[in-house]
Amino acid sequence: MANERKTVAVLYGGKSTEHEISLLTAFSVINAINLKRYRVLPVYINQDGRWIPGSEITGKLESKDQLLLHENVKAERAVEHWIAPSSPLDATSARPDIVFPLLHGSNGEDGTVQGLMELLNLAYVGSGVAGSSVCMDKVLMKDVLKTHKIQGPDYLSVSRFEWESDAPSRILAIKRSIGYPCFVKPANGGSSVGISKCVSETELSAAITEALLYDSKVIVEEHINGREIEIGVLGNHELSVSVPGEIITKNAAFYDYQSKYHEGNSTLVIPVHLSEKVLAELEETAKRAFAALNLSGLARVDVFLREKDQSIVVNELNTMPGFTQFSMFPLLWQHTGLSYPQLIETLIDLGLQRHDDKQKIHYRIQC
Ligand SMILES: Nc1ncnc2c1ncn2[C@@H]1O[C@H](COP(=O)(O)OP(=O)(O)O)[C@@H](O)[C@H]1O
Ligand SMILES: [Mg+2]
Repeated sequence: MANERKTVAVLYGGKSTEHEISLLTAFSVINAINLKRYRVLPVYINQDGRWIPGSEITGKLESKDQLLLHENVKAERAVEHWIAPSSPLDATSARPDIVFPLLHGSNGEDGTVQGLMELLNLAYVGSGVAGSSVCMDKVLMKDVLKTHKIQGPDYLSVSRFEWESDAPSRILAIKRSIGYPCFVKPANGGSSVGISKCVSETELSAAITEALLYDSKVIVEEHINGREIEIGVLGNHELSVSVPGEIITKNAAFYDYQSKYHEGNSTLVIPVHLSEKVLAELEETAKRAFAALNLSGLARVDVFLREKDQSIVVNELNTMPGFTQFSMFPLLWQHTGLSYPQLIETLIDLGLQRHDDKQKIHYRIQC
């Protein structure tokens, strides 16, 4: 029955360097979602951060450009109904049953949108405010993993203020505690934007200056020599893990933007065969890291399998990993037995469950 369908508002675009990637994700998800079970409302967030809802999706999209909605005051006002529902509600102004943020990077994957959803008491897919924001900040994420004794590369953070006030002492500290080669990254970022591998002081200085274009804090990490393995985690309390996959990068020093998004520059090997011992350690580490970071719904856990001792070194957890049907996370689940449409439904169910759980919390003191 049409009126029993749950309304899913799909948020995409976003004020982020990963805006384009989000459009690809949304195109893929919207075309895979079962429209007999869900009423799908697209909400485009343009690069200026304006929220532009579109009308209900009623069939397959032919091009992702159909998702580039234009500013329109009447449409924008429809989102206001999420905050203050008016009656009677028309089709575009109804509060959704759940919001699916398909946003990567800043202003989306970083807890900001999640915070808005919390204030509006709207169910949403994925991790909450704390988990999302901590995972977005590579320094905070690594601080938490370290506290939980989950192995990661050695690292050091440098703020813009520290860099501008005394760059030589920062370089010296990096040379002493990290050494070369090292990786420099904006603390908050994704898709390898602003990331460099450095083998000398000159490269290090240039890399920090570049990374500071994208954030006011950078992380400098020890280079880990090893294979890049990724594994999916799903769940709120009881966690499931997918089969693992491996990234093989061609013609690049690391898995950079070109390797990620240009055909032929990298290969995904799914599933990747690992020894029983390594696989058990990987699965255990992925679940522990997910729980330590207070995540829910989904995450892709990216690790290095260090060459010298075959140990698992966690690189990062992505709370909204690449999510087109050709991306690692959905492919990992497909090989584990969960199709792309089933994965989308599982995530919606997990988001609704999490929201129900939250309704049990009392915000008045109980006598
Ligand atoms: N410490 C490291 N040692 C070796 N390679 C690294 C290290 N950190 C990052 N890389 C390489 O850079 C890529 C991007 O870094 P990552 O931290 O995953 O950033 P992003 O959030 O942009 O994906 C990784 O997939 C890997 O190829
Ligand atoms: Mg990464």
